[in-house]
Amino acid sequence: MPQVKLVEIGPRDGFQSVNEFIPTSLKTAVIDRLVEAGLRKIQITSFVSPKAIPQMKGARQVSEYVLTKYPAVEPFALVPNLTGAKMAVAAGLKEIGPVMSLSESHNMANIRRSVEESLEETKAIRQQFPDTKITQDIATVFGCPFEGRMRVEPLLELLGRLHAIGIRDFTLCDTIGVAYPKQVTEVFQKATAAFPDCGFGAHIHDTRNMGILNSYLALQNGASSVQTAIGGLGGCPFAPGASGNTATEDISYMLEREGYATGLDMDKLVATARFLQANVAGNYSGHHAAISAEFREMGMPA
Ligand code: COA
Ligand code: ZN
Repeated sequence: MPQVKLVEIGPRDGFQSVNEFIPTSLKTAVIDRLVEAGLRKIQITSFVSPKAIPQMKGARQVSEYVLTKYPAVEPFALVPNLTGAKMAVAAGLKEIGPVMSLSESHNMANIRRSVEESLEETKAIRQQFPDTKITQDIATVFGCPFEGRMRVEPLLELLGRLHAIGIRDFTLCDTIGVAYPKQVTEVFQKATAAFPDCGFGAHIHDTRNMGILNSYLALQNGASSVQTAIGGLGGCPFAPGASGNTATEDISYMLEREGYATGLDMDKLVATARFLQANVAGNYSGHHAAISAEFREMGMPA
């Protein structure tokens, strides 16, 4: 059975879309359930300005909780700049995900920097933390809420510049959920062919009900992991109506039925999605949490 790695990012991309502050104890209660369901790689928070994203206050406490309680889990955090990287490393994290956008205007709106400045920021992070694993998030790879459709050539150029400063792991993000199958296929084929010494993950939003298909195609065209959010919780502040990442339980179900081993417990994933829905008011795009136990059984192998 081929193995596949689902990277849970609900505690970051999902939670950041929620207006009302989620107490740290509730955040860690969700993470407890994600670990219990089998998830081993989890983006647990982000170290960002509390003015930009108040929901991420308490990032240090969440990090310390996970690091102390779960030595077998690989937690990582999104960081928008060197300041955030310093805070994440000080909290004990061994992996961080700097973020920048392919499109100039989204990068400016999101992290108030030009793409050039963000490159400098990643370079400084790489130099200051040689022992920290860095997985670079590239947002708006497939489309930008301000600039429209993105092309693959500028992406390859940006990857080349990041490669030159020592980055070897990337997550290619469909930030607003506009990617389509041919585009995902082309982007992952070209990126993996151009940078065979690099690892590529996919991060797809389910705005147009194409998240599961696009994530699947990413895996079949060179992605080594897919990021998902429990319950499909999420959205995008720059794209009204955009959905969260494809739900962990939905993708897990599809991959297991297709013969991949995800290492995840479907009942526990669904219970976690339901726990989240019962406790956190937000925008959920997942399907499985709504299916009764009886009918869920019908989807399981005989
Ligand atoms: N974490 C916490 N605080 C930070 C920080 C970080 N990573 N980076 C900067 N700050 C603080 C500074 O210390 C400063 O504090 P002060 O006002 O008390 O002196 C303040 O934020 C402003 O610093 P500055 O560097 O001028 O930042 P900015 O106002 O230009 O904001 C970002 C830039 C990147 C910090 C901010 O836009 C941000 O955090 N964006 C994240 C957006 C995000 O998470 N989007 C979703 C994920 S893709
Ligand atoms: Zn996202």
